[in-house]
Amino acid sequence: MKLMPDMLELMRTSPVIPVIAIDDINHAVPLAKALVAGGIRVLEVTLRTAHGLPSIRAIAEQVPGAILGVGTLTDPDEFVAARDAGAVFGVSPGLTAALIEAAISSGLPLLPGVMTPSEVMRAREAGFRQLKLFPAVQAGGIGMLNAIAGPLADVTFCPTGGITETTAAQFLACKNVACVGGSWLTPKDAILAGDWARITALATTASALRKTF
Ligand code: 3PG
Repeated sequence: MKLMPDMLELMRTSPVIPVIAIDDINHAVPLAKALVAGGIRVLEVTLRTAHGLPSIRAIAEQVPGAILGVGTLTDPDEFVAARDAGAVFGVSPGLTAALIEAAISSGLPLLPGVMTPSEVMRAREAGFRQLKLFPAVQAGGIGMLNAIAGPLADVTFCPTGGITETTAAQFLACKNVACVGGSWLTPKDAILAGDWARITALATTASALRKTF
């Protein structure tokens, strides 16, 4: 069995976690290689296309250095399949009792999505201290993160949703943010054109946003 990472350590490994949706399985490995070449090693491959799981398997086998997560986990049955394909962590847009159970029984560390203080509190009660604020901008963005840092101080966030190359640094400056997620590192036109150099350049800029803990 693979060694599963500590979620906080993982979040501190990379200032940006690219949220990846693969439309063509042939893109998976070169895309992951391009990101890793730019210093972005923690990758979230979502299950929102049919190529999600096969892409995780291919990247796990062929891209040394990638730390692979499975994203858009909404079905408890997907945890074991993703773990067996090579994912070492999971990300979900929200949290349900069934997902908590699946995270525990599969042993796959989960970064669950929350959007309100009550959702943060329910996730904490279930034992989660590292959370994804989702959708981050729509949830109130930086103002929301700062407002909950006082009353809910023991939680660390990966805000995701609506964050851009321009705003990422402002999110990372929040004391309760360890990393951010976003899709701007993987523009669809660059992937379709096979412009891996552009993706490596985006990753290089993103990895320079590293924060000191
Ligand atoms: C998503 O749902 O695709 C992720 O939250 C990424 O959002 P973004 O495209 O706004 O970065």
